Amino acid sequence: MPAQTMLKVQDLRFRYDPEQPQYAVDGVSLCVQKGEFVAVLGANGCGKSTLAKHFNAILLPESGTVLVEGMDTRTDERLYDIRQKVGMVFQNPDNQIVATVVEEDVAFALENLGVPTPDIRTRIDEAMRLAGIWDKRESAPHKLSGGQKQRVAIAGVIAMRPDCLVLDEATAMLDPSGRAAVLDTIRTLRAAGITIVAITHYMEEAAQADRILVMSEGRIVLEGTPREIFSRPERLHRYHLDVPQAAELRDELAKVGIRLPAGTITPEECAQALYELLK
Ligand SMILES: Nc1ncnc2c1ncn2[C@@H]1O[C@H](COP(=O)(O)OP(=O)(O)OP(=O)(O)O)[C@@H](O)[C@H]1O
Ligand SMILES: [Mg+2]
Repeated sequence: MPAQTMLKVQDLRFRYDPEQPQYAVDGVSLCVQKGEFVAVLGANGCGKSTLAKHFNAILLPESGTVLVEGMDTRTDERLYDIRQKVGMVFQNPDNQIVATVVEEDVAFALENLGVPTPDIRTRIDEAMRLAGIWDKRESAPHKLSGGQKQRVAIAGVIAMRPDCLVLDEATAMLDPSGRAAVLDTIRTLRAAGITIVAITHYMEEAAQADRILVMSEGRIVLEGTPREIFSRPERLHRYHLDVPQAAELRDELAKVGIRLPAGTITPEECAQALYELLK
C-alpha cells in the first residue's frame, strides 16, 4: 500500500443484526489518499454513518477489511493509534461538549490521555486557532452559536492531532452562517494537510470536495469529481439526490436555450458564466 493512502476499505460488509439478511454496508471498496477532501452523499439510511464508523474502529467489519494508514482496524493493539489518527465529529454539537469553558473543553481529551501540561497548552492553542474559535477560548460553550459549538468540537478533535477528520453531517443542525463557518474551518484544516471525509446532505458542501462518493443501499453507486457528479443530474435523481443550486440554474437555463458550461456548479462559476453571456 502506498504511504500516501489514508484509508483503504476492501469489500466491507456489515450488518447490525447478523440474523437479518440486509447489510447496512454491502460490499464497499474505496481509497482515500492523504490530504484529500472526500464528500459522501446518499439518501437517509443508505449506510453512510455505518461506513464512517468503520473508519476509526467504532464498528468492525463483518467481512472485508478497513485499513487506516495500513493498520487493520481489527487489530486490538492498534486501536489507540487508529483512534488517534482518525477523529470523528458528529451532528449534534451539544452532545460533544463536556466542559464549561471552551479551552477546557478542547483540552479535555488530552488531559485524559495524560499529555504533559505545557504540551496541552500548545496543542489546544493551535487547535483553537485552526478551528477559528481562538477569540472564544474563555467563553462558556452553551452561550455560543451552533456553528461556534461545532467548531469547539472540531478543535477538541484537532487537538489530538489526527491525520484524518471524519465529519458525519457535522453541519446538519446549523443555520446557513454556522454552516459557512464550519465549511471555512474544513478548508483551513485541509490546507494544513488534514484528510477530510465529510458526510453531508448539502450539495453546496459536496461541491467543495476533491471527490464525491454516492451511496445507495449499502453500496457506492457513483464516484467522481464534483464536476463529473453534478454534470449529470438525472443520475443523481435516481438516488434521490439533487445538484447544487448553481447547477440547477445551469440546467433550467439550458431548457430555454441558454447554455452555461457543464462544469458550472458553484455560485462563483455561475456568476462568471452569466457575466460572460451578458457582456
Ligand atoms: N444502531 C443500529 N442498529 C440497527 N440498525 C441500524 C443502526 N444504525 C443504523 N441502522 C440501520 O442501518 C442502515 C444504514 O444506516 P446508517 O445510519 O448507516 O445510514 P445513513 O446513510 O447514515 O442515514 P442518515 O442519512 O439518515 O444518517 C439503515 O437501514 C439503518 O436503519
Ligand atoms: Mg447517518
